[in-house]
Amino acid sequence: MRYLILSDIHSNLEALEAVLTDSAGLYQQVVCLGDIVGYGANPNEVTAWVRQNCEAVIRGNHDRACTGMSDLRFFNPVAKAAAEWTRTKLEPDHLIYLSGLPRGPFDVADCRLVHGSPLDEDTYVISIPDAEEQLQSLERGLIFFGHTHIQGGFGRRGSGDEVEGLSPYELVIAAEEDALLVNPGSVGQPRDNDWHAAYAIYDAGTRQIEFRRCPYDVDAAQRKIVEAGLPLALAERLGLGL
Ligand SMILES: [Fe+2]
Repeated sequence: MRYLILSDIHSNLEALEAVLTDSAGLYQQVVCLGDIVGYGANPNEVTAWVRQNCEAVIRGNHDRACTGMSDLRFFNPVAKAAAEWTRTKLEPDHLIYLSGLPRGPFDVADCRLVHGSPLDEDTYVISIPDAEEQLQSLERGLIFFGHTHIQGGFGRRGSGDEVEGLSPYELVIAAEEDALLVNPGSVGQPRDNDWHAAYAIYDAGTRQIEFRRCPYDVDAAQRKIVEAGLPLALAERLGLGL
């Protein structure tokens, strides 16, 4: 079975559509690591697609924020404005769907899905020390995570005890004895200095993970954000991949 691994779509319909065109024929099932909504201008369209097409979905912090499940005091002003805007725009049944999403970890096939980290859905795993902390209690296994919007990840390979970074430019083969934290990157708001939409394909048969990027109509996504009255910074950052 081959999986399309999506994370952090963030209401960006243009990026989602581009990813679906780019990945056509490469997978049989779709999984989503949360943050379906927040930031972008198409929360209803993106949520409708996720509801219809994803085999497994877990919630992200923005899905909680946009459905009134978390305190917005801890959000920066831009994220807070986007969450409040999204809440007013979401159709009632999409609101119910998003507020009922399960918290990770969620197991699919031979891998585990989390939003932030295996230990906490809101934790950012950005550095090797962050990953070491998360992998301390994991002898082996394959975990897909999102939240940082940075494609790549971390791993302890074979019998070694050193945690190293995984390059998003190389194919990853998950060996039986490896402990891996793999981030497909963000579909709708990449923050790794590359504006292209990010995702991954996981082949559970060969245990290969391919990181992929594709161009999308950034201008259209930016225009919609501006026309919706969302903060300008949200449009600007899409063009920079920040
Ligand atoms: Fe996110």
